Amino acid sequence: MKTGILNRYYADLPESYLFSTIARKIDSYRQSHPGADIIRLGIGDVTRPLAPAVIAAMHRATEEMADVAGFRGYGPEQGYEFLREAVARGEFAPRGVDLAADEIFISDGSKCDVANFQELFDRKCRVAIPDPVYPVYLDSNIMAGRKNIVFMPAHAGNGFQPEIPKHSVDLIYLCSPNNPTGTVLTRETLTAFVDYALRHGALILFDAAYAAYIQDDSLVHSIYEIPGARACAVEFRSFSKTAGFTGVRCAVTVVPHELAELRRMWLRRQTTKFNGVNYIVQRAAEAVYSPEGREQIRATIAGYMANAAAIRRGLTEGGWTVCGGEHAPYIWWELPEQETSFAFFDRLLETCEVVGTPGSGFGSCGEGYFRLTAFGEPDSTRRALERIRTRLK
Ligand code: MLT
Repeated sequence: MKTGILNRYYADLPESYLFSTIARKIDSYRQSHPGADIIRLGIGDVTRPLAPAVIAAMHRATEEMADVAGFRGYGPEQGYEFLREAVARGEFAPRGVDLAADEIFISDGSKCDVANFQELFDRKCRVAIPDPVYPVYLDSNIMAGRKNIVFMPAHAGNGFQPEIPKHSVDLIYLCSPNNPTGTVLTRETLTAFVDYALRHGALILFDAAYAAYIQDDSLVHSIYEIPGARACAVEFRSFSKTAGFTGVRCAVTVVPHELAELRRMWLRRQTTKFNGVNYIVQRAAEAVYSPEGREQIRATIAGYMANAAAIRRGLTEGGWTVCGGEHAPYIWWELPEQETSFAFFDRLLETCEVVGTPGSGFGSCGEGYFRLTAFGEPDSTRRALERIRTRLK
């Protein structure tokens, strides 16, 4: 094959995806230290089993598929109406956000949606991306050949609220609660971004994959709680972290009626490139909004948030500075100066056999920080903290 036919923009990417790099480092440590007792607080992957209400719905749906009357083949690419309505009622209406079922698209993951959505835009678009943030926004735009990218720094000095671009941009990614800093964007910040987007004709791509972790009802959960957002924002939600679906795969993308052309294009894209999420999974996702489902999921999230509180407490008592972990499953740990976050990753693995994620993997403003997740088992989380407190200093 001629190399000239390859997408040359891939050459502009970091050599490997952040979490693949981390996985490789862990594998190589394991090989050189057989029997190592590694505690993983790196990738944000859930550890608690699916809720009983979700499992029961999966069983029922599987049974339905076992006979001719209940069997289903291809489903609607946009998702079954029962789930889209359940999402509108269960996820958005309680926040005072009124969505129609046809504004909601069901998919097999927010990562894919957030990475694919940029396909709808011109390659010359100017893109604003928070720094630090989930690396998929940047990498997917690089793959598409976009060069005009500006970063919105978020640091302790601005309370981890990304700075509004000084010049006009077309696409703005926001993530709240933020991955990796765990910070929730304030109503003022979001209002300023919505005003900016309306003034500049820009679009906000709002990733709310961790909204279920917000503990304070007065904080903004959905961008549509901000007046004007329906005319300038798309929102991504996920069942992965909300209900333990990282391996099951189901997510939601909202494109409001006010963005009619964009909605038509996303539908065109999905109907062409995607055949929908399977029926069993969509019934399982619907069960998340049943009274039992809600209660069971609330308890699981409370367990993860107890881990987050333990990590925050352990590190703070050890004399370190942290943020996040109050409305998000991520704790953002400020490292002592003069050590890079990748060097710290190696030191933490070697001295404590604990894995986290180097802050610089989320952008240059993440240098000097380290992310720990609260998704571990409580006992491993406690043991990780004990090792950090006793072996690290
Ligand atoms: C993370 O650790 O940042 C997440 O697990 C990545 C993801 O959700 O794809």
